[in-house]
Amino acid sequence: MTGALEAVRSRRSWSKVTDAAPTHAELLTLVSAAGRVADHSSMRPWRLIELRGTDRDRLGRAINKATGDKGSSSKPLRAPLLIAVVASYRKSDKVPRWEQEAVASGVAHVLSLLLDEAGWGVIWRTGLYTRSKAVAKAHGLVGDEELLGWLYVGGKPPRARLGRRKGVDARHHISRMPREASIPEPKRAGKAKKKKAKRAE
Ligand SMILES: Cc1cc2nc3c(=O)[nH]c(=O)nc-3n(C[C@H](O)[C@H](O)[C@H](O)COP(=O)(O)O)c2cc1C
Repeated sequence: MTGALEAVRSRRSWSKVTDAAPTHAELLTLVSAAGRVADHSSMRPWRLIELRGTDRDRLGRAINKATGDKGSSSKPLRAPLLIAVVASYRKSDKVPRWEQEAVASGVAHVLSLLLDEAGWGVIWRTGLYTRSKAVAKAHGLVGDEELLGWLYVGGKPPRARLGRRKGVDARHHISRMPREASIPEPKRAGKAKKKKAKRAE
């Protein structure tokens, strides 16, 4: 069994974490490793923003502004460190936006795995306000950038109950291509209908 297989199998999300958090220097090592995900044309279409201390209150205020509530949401206070994941789309004729978003998402997944393996509790969170103007402004998003949510990071609480995770039955998620004969041909059917309609005119 490889280290990666074991790390992925044993990871879980931690919705409750303690006040301990990795330092900026620790993050640099993990982020640099996570940045090694497959990346079409090596465009690095992502960046991360660390939110610590009162940054989290600023996010709380932006969330409430976005949702039309007064004051500050306490949601960001659920962890001592939030890592905002930003897709920073680059101009390209070759690599469309969806591919660039896939890269940013890959970085977030790998980073959360590395944090988990390093002993930190992580959960990826979003909300309907994730792509609101107020939240984008608070993060200083510029140009063509979009948030993919936040990795909430903290210490794994001691004596936490290790909730069981359902395994994934791979057989339901991997198959071969359908047999050609079984593929409906909507285009051809559409063309035939049009021809028929023309003839009837
Ligand atoms: C893009 C994305 C957004 C998510 N947003 C939330 C969220 O807002 N709240 C939440 O409880 N879980 C959210 N999750 C799911 C958790 O991160 C976590 O994967 C889920 O609770 C399952 O737990 P597990 O990772 O231990 O299997 C999100 C996951 C992804 C990938």
